[in-house]
Amino acid sequence: MTQDRHDRPTLDARAAALTLVPLIAADEALAMQLLDIRNEPAVRANMYRDTAIAPEEHRAWVAATRAGGAREVWILTEDGAAQGALIFSGIDRVHDRADWAFYLSGRMQGRGLGRALEFRALDMAFGPMGLHRLACQVIAWNTPVIALHESMGFSREGLFREHVRRDDAWHDVIALACLAPDWRTLRPTLAQRS
Ligand SMILES: CC(C)(COP(=O)(O)OP(=O)(O)OC[C@H]1O[C@@H](n2cnc3c(N)ncnc32)[C@H](O)[C@@H]1OP(=O)(O)O)[C@@H](O)C(=O)NCCC(=O)NCCS
Repeated sequence: MTQDRHDRPTLDARAAALTLVPLIAADEALAMQLLDIRNEPAVRANMYRDTAIAPEEHRAWVAATRAGGAREVWILTEDGAAQGALIFSGIDRVHDRADWAFYLSGRMQGRGLGRALEFRALDMAFGPMGLHRLACQVIAWNTPVIALHESMGFSREGLFREHVRRDDAWHDVIALACLAPDWRTLRPTLAQRS
């Protein structure tokens, strides 16, 4: 049963309690669980690429992430099993900026976990990662996620017209970003919500 949000710990406490395992430290089994989640229809439907990813492709992506560079991936785990992911990409140390994306297994969605994961992502980005700017892009139909980002300090910066083709139709994409001062301003208020 879904917990009443008024019974829940505060958002900052829920975010801090999440277990995140860096992909570079994950064993093969955990890394492959992430592929199962990424390939769930409810997840891939909202990604730029919605076709299933093959195991070899995923292994190559894991290997490239492990080799270091511009991408950091964190696996959200519960009782040792993967439940979702946090992906920072395009990490640019000249300008201290990055892009990010996240997803949760369908069985974990709609219970407030996504908001907690986003809070943690912002704390990581503007804390230990030392970023100044965190950006993301969301397909325009994904209005709950756009609203979630806006409520967490992201501002709309643009609209990429017909950026994605899906089933022979074109779809717009919304570009959003949050700056370190935006997060510092909003964080104390957000931290106290349930
Ligand atoms: C995006 C995602 C991680 C959000 O996680 P979640 O656990 O489902 O989100 P939450 O339960 O924390 O909900 C966050 C807010 O969005 C709202 N929301 C979530 N789903 C909604 C829906 N279908 N319709 C309307 N509002 C919705 C919630 O009410 C909540 O607002 P509130 O805190 O004011 O009540 C998850 O849905 C997911 O993995 N989706 C597929 C992949 C994806 O779209 N990723 C984002 C693009 S990279």
